[in-house]
Amino acid sequence: AQRIFSGIQPSGGLTLGNYLGALKRFAVAQDEGIETVYCIVDLHAITVWQDPANLRHATRELAAGFIASGIDPARSILFNQSQVPAHAELAWIFNCVARMGWLRRMTQFKDKAGKHAEEASVGLFAYPNLMAADILAYHATHVPVGEDQKQHLELTRDIAIKFNHDYGVDFFPVVEPVIEGAATRVMSLRDGTKKMSKSDPSDQSRINLTDDADAIASKIRKARTDPEPLPETLEGLEGRAEARNLINIYAALADIAPEEVVAEFGGQGFGAFKPALADLAVSKLSPISAEMGRLMQDVAEIDRILGQGAERANALAEPILMQTREIVGLIRSR
Ligand code: TYM
Repeated sequence: AQRIFSGIQPSGGLTLGNYLGALKRFAVAQDEGIETVYCIVDLHAITVWQDPANLRHATRELAAGFIASGIDPARSILFNQSQVPAHAELAWIFNCVARMGWLRRMTQFKDKAGKHAEEASVGLFAYPNLMAADILAYHATHVPVGEDQKQHLELTRDIAIKFNHDYGVDFFPVVEPVIEGAATRVMSLRDGTKKMSKSDPSDQSRINLTDDADAIASKIRKARTDPEPLPETLEGLEGRAEARNLINIYAALADIAPEEVVAEFGGQGFGAFKPALADLAVSKLSPISAEMGRLMQDVAEIDRILGQGAERANALAEPILMQTREIVGLIRSR
């Protein structure tokens, strides 16, 4: 049977990239009746400094974002990572499986640590091992993510393969990354070659899930484009990263293929397309941000949901961790 696992970091707010690349697809998988486990990865977030009060707020706001995006805590398991100890314990075992050379190749570490790798936390370096533990603690088979997580998922596969090989078992599944749809890599509104990111210094570069209608419309109006009209076919997007990005965003928001967007808007200028995109974005995102605001009125209820999710997650992960200890030779006599 399929079991889906995915996670999002509670570090800063949610962007349109997180929504289209992850949250929206998480809700679709849940609605297809697949078993879905969704995790707010607070232990990943603290690999870089997080103010404790901000971390608590961001964790609750992300929970609200999941629910407002259609994740139903009765049908999906929704919880924060640190409430389920199996993640950290399995990560330690994987620290001893993964090789230094594998982690040194991770481009996200190189990007995040930059020139100051000696100053980066050990946790930031070992981050992908914790991510492998998140997934493998549930024997998840499928992991929906955006394009930027592809390399980490390859490492997860390598860890599962090496663990199985070293211990002579067929225990951890080799997971399938699910990187699908028009919006697996939503780009910055200011630079079509850069990923839309919550850490970009320019707020104009991204749409935040909490932006109001005016902010969304104004950011789309000011989004960088070229002077040409929209092409009639997708081949006409060659070398037009900004145009491609806006078309992909439209397609993903409207649940249609990019081909259909150019069929409708081909030949028209951005002066016509941008207002249509802004209207569409506002109509899809405003209800989500309103619902997030409503849910954040009652953080005790959010904490209760996370606690219940953690109990259910623990019930799945604990037996797998127990078997892992047995395989590795760690005595458990109580
Ligand atoms: P994070 O928190 O950076 O992002 C959460 C999800 O959003 C996707 N995403 C995007 N998709 C399309 N376009 C964008 N511009 C964009 N920006 C972000 C990400 O690909 C991701 O799916 N390491 C992960 C969190 C994690 C995880 C896991 C994921 C921890 N453990 C286990 C899957 C399975 C991360 O930092 O995602």
